[in-house]
Amino acid sequence: MSRRITLDEFIIQSELRQPNSTGEFSGLLRHIGIAAKIVNRIVNKAGLMDILGLDGNVNSTGDVVQKLDTYTNELMIEYLRNSGLCAGVASEELEEYISFPVNRLKLNKYIVVMDPLDGSSNIDVNISVGTIFGVYERKTLDNSYAQMSDFLQSGSALVASGYVLYGTSTMFVFTTGSGVNGFTYDRGIGEFCLSHSQMKMPDDGPYYSVNQAYYNQFSDGVKQFISYCVEQNKMLRYIGSMVADVHRTLCLGGVFLYPGTRKNPEGKLRMLYECNPLSMIVEQAGGMSVSEQKERILEKEINSLHQRSSVIIGSRKLVQKACDLL
Ligand code: AHG
Repeated sequence: MSRRITLDEFIIQSELRQPNSTGEFSGLLRHIGIAAKIVNRIVNKAGLMDILGLDGNVNSTGDVVQKLDTYTNELMIEYLRNSGLCAGVASEELEEYISFPVNRLKLNKYIVVMDPLDGSSNIDVNISVGTIFGVYERKTLDNSYAQMSDFLQSGSALVASGYVLYGTSTMFVFTTGSGVNGFTYDRGIGEFCLSHSQMKMPDDGPYYSVNQAYYNQFSDGVKQFISYCVEQNKMLRYIGSMVADVHRTLCLGGVFLYPGTRKNPEGKLRMLYECNPLSMIVEQAGGMSVSEQKERILEKEINSLHQRSSVIIGSRKLVQKACDLL
């Protein structure tokens, strides 16, 4: 009887195809997979654990912090630290990056950027949320500890990125630069199993996704693009949880955009934790991702940990049309 390959098996098999691999990178990916299972359990049980609701703080980027944001952030950091395979982490929930003690046997050549719980304002009402991560190789291997320059790398330097969607089922979707693969969590065996091999984004699609409540604050080009979508009978879908909105766009085709607004002229979403990792996934699946200024997101220079950007991401035909109108 055929069975589905697990995430661990997939990562190990990919590593075996790389003759010079030290196992460090695949070990780190597997640890992220384990952390995702724990976060999945917590997200699923949140209503029973008194960890719903606000934490009482506002994070470094001005967002109201939910208790579950804090919990998942600490949990992910602990797993990355204990992996012994990660030199440091920058998180949407932390103002500064954290460097981990260097493992004497290894160089700890990777750092991780993450949004541990994206879309967390949806949690209390049981709507899909996600975790986003990106992995970079360090630029300062001669230093014991990870430095700021290890984190301020453009998206084109990502060696891996992915997301976990805690939806009607839980999915782990990732890329190491040779296509995108999706794994669905099988509760029975407690493993992510390959369910979406070599995912491809349609060149066009039936949906556009934007918070249209900000319409009056959008630029003329963005307004024209929205009118184009309406004229083309595209349907509006907006969850307010970027992982879920991008996942739908990836599977069915369409476009997701978060343009500049009065409150956030550069856009709301963060380059390191949201825009870059998801742009790598979408490009690897054949889609496109640009800013409102029509720059390719993955090529944008990163100057600070919490830099924001506008983003237009999705099917090639639709993103190209947006570029024509902007
Ligand atoms: P948060 O994690 O603070 O809930 O932010 C979610 C992000 C992103 O996932 C989503 O697309 C966007 O913010 C929603 O913002 P609006 O509520 O302004 O539409």
